[in-house]
Amino acid sequence: EFTKGVNGLDKVILRDVRGSSAEVYLYGGQVTSWKNEHGEELLFLSSKAIFKSPKAIRGGIPICFPQFATHGSLEQHGFARNRFWSVDPDPPPFPTNSFNTTYIDLILKPSEEDQKIWPHSFEFRLRVTLGRGGDLMLTSRIRNTNTDGKPFSFTFAYHTYFSVSDISEVRVEGLETLDYLDNLQNKERFTEQGDAITFESEVDKTYLSTPSKIAILDHERKRTFVLRKDRLPDAVVWNPWDKKAKAMADFGDDEYKHMLCVEAAAIEKSITLKPGEEWRGRQELSAVPSSYCSGQ
Ligand code: BG6
Repeated sequence: EFTKGVNGLDKVILRDVRGSSAEVYLYGGQVTSWKNEHGEELLFLSSKAIFKSPKAIRGGIPICFPQFATHGSLEQHGFARNRFWSVDPDPPPFPTNSFNTTYIDLILKPSEEDQKIWPHSFEFRLRVTLGRGGDLMLTSRIRNTNTDGKPFSFTFAYHTYFSVSDISEVRVEGLETLDYLDNLQNKERFTEQGDAITFESEVDKTYLSTPSKIAILDHERKRTFVLRKDRLPDAVVWNPWDKKAKAMADFGDDEYKHMLCVEAAAIEKSITLKPGEEWRGRQELSAVPSSYCSGQ
């Protein structure tokens, strides 16, 4: 279903027969909403989000490409998140597609202006799929279409903002004992100690070579998000906490309590593609009710 979103921007709504849904803005190629079959919103979107170029939309799932954060000379998180993507009216079938899934393919190709800041030609195909049971799958296929014979390298993240009831009640499982770069300490390398990760202050860490499955347990809402990822070895965990929240114009002062970013990413080792080569990176999200004692 094609419709207009905030500021008249084009968006696409995917609906599952059982009632779950997802919304995707062509601006940024960005998922901004994912609801379960009860109509409950599962992603965080700031009430102060600015839906206007060149500002990336604060919330949902921004795409960080061709650069994650400041890992290079481009603008923070690259330019894909503030470009207008197009819809492929006739998308190719994927082997993983089955009945009862609904999907849309968005395409990003660089403009001449983009090629002045990143001198490469590429085709980025983002498939957003709402699966049976309301799972949300994002598959990115990035192809080097350079005609000058040159390879290119990039870093990447699905910058997912999960909606949580109360950040101080949330725990993340699957990252304990891993090495991480602390983005608050000049990307210095540390090793995570002990138990599941909990939150009591600002956090901005890039966990390296993580397992493919990460769980985000929202104790209060009795909900567990399960994030599965493929060809995305790293995972960023970010919450700005109170001080940084106040400093962001497009983020409410108290909203840090109700969100957590866990980002499936390829950061430590950049991905290199020769002309004609393609990379595929996938994340799958599900939200399941957790029993009171789960994870204890
Ligand atoms: C995270 C980074 O992925 O994104 C943080 O690790 C950054 O360092 C955050 O602050 C938000 O970035 P932006 O550009 O959307 O404000």
